[in-house]
Amino acid sequence: MSCVDSGMTLEHEEVLVRRGPRSGLPIVVAVHSTALGQAVGGLRMWHYPDWRDAQADALRLSRGMTYKCAVAGADKGGGKTVVALPEKTDNRVRRAALLDAADAIDSLGGRYATGPDVGTGEPDMDVIAERTAHVFCRPASSGGSGDSSPHTAAGVVATLRALTGGSVKGRRFAVVGLGRVGGAVATALAADGADLVLSDVDQAKRALAAELGAAWKEPAGALTASVDVLVPAALGGMLTGALVPELHCGIIAGPANNQLADESVADLLHERGILWAPDYVVGSGGVVNALAVELDGRSAAEAAELVEGIGATVAALVDDARRAGITPAQAARERAEARLNAAVRVHSGRD
Ligand code: PHE
Repeated sequence: MSCVDSGMTLEHEEVLVRRGPRSGLPIVVAVHSTALGQAVGGLRMWHYPDWRDAQADALRLSRGMTYKCAVAGADKGGGKTVVALPEKTDNRVRRAALLDAADAIDSLGGRYATGPDVGTGEPDMDVIAERTAHVFCRPASSGGSGDSSPHTAAGVVATLRALTGGSVKGRRFAVVGLGRVGGAVATALAADGADLVLSDVDQAKRALAAELGAAWKEPAGALTASVDVLVPAALGGMLTGALVPELHCGIIAGPANNQLADESVADLLHERGILWAPDYVVGSGGVVNALAVELDGRSAAEAAELVEGIGATVAALVDDARRAGITPAQAARERAEARLNAAVRVHSGRD
């Protein structure tokens, strides 16, 4: 999703940029919107060529979280924390960076709460909790709902089933990115008898492909492989205008955040007859589970049912879009913005 902060308009409510006093590393906390409630979104620790790239990522990702929560029906807004890591980080610096991020988050006084994301996991949330209460997905032993990635993966698999007529058996999928979410999606699809092409920038993930009896391709080849469904599960921005004519898939649905290099790519995909399921809906299982368990006191089984419902939500969006003659991207955006605009009206007392 492109970011619309440009010129004199800052769309985000608040952006905190700080050199971590312990780690010396750039820390960015972006609060895109609290119109529906406290902003939530994970803590990403990743390598960037420049801290400004980390800031740009935080701006885009936090906006995606606003839409993710709005379509999921959660009374939550969108935020994200990004820590720009150097190429090599030892555990001492990593812990220092987590504590720096936690202090930055705490300074927002609860307007934003974090959770895991690319480069962070369950144990890291315990470190964050040493400095702030505003953190989801701590280990169950610490009273949290645990790692969000299996739940994100479950929502993706439910979506893939819904979009392939109820069963993935015998269908061909390319899963690009085999991290905690992509790896779990690939494993579940293999168990259901899907035909898989797997890919990751990390060659060590070839072992998973071998284990699942799947074909292996380099990311560029996997993105353009001849498949029923392409499942983007790596970092964002991989769907560019230039890639669209090269694609050989009928459907694109995966958990990677900000898949579109810019929003016009949704129209290009639509024109080529490729169904693109909005990433922020497909990948909402993690946050849906965390909120259901930690805030609404739902049981694991009840939360799993909500996550399973993401499949039906995506299918309904696709149907609505088809009927209205618009893209699923537009249908999702309208649904989110209807909630956001109504909330803004309530807050400002306007009718
Ligand atoms: N990082 C995940 C997301 O962006 C999951 C998550 C974030 C879970 C924040 C809980 C809280 O959706």
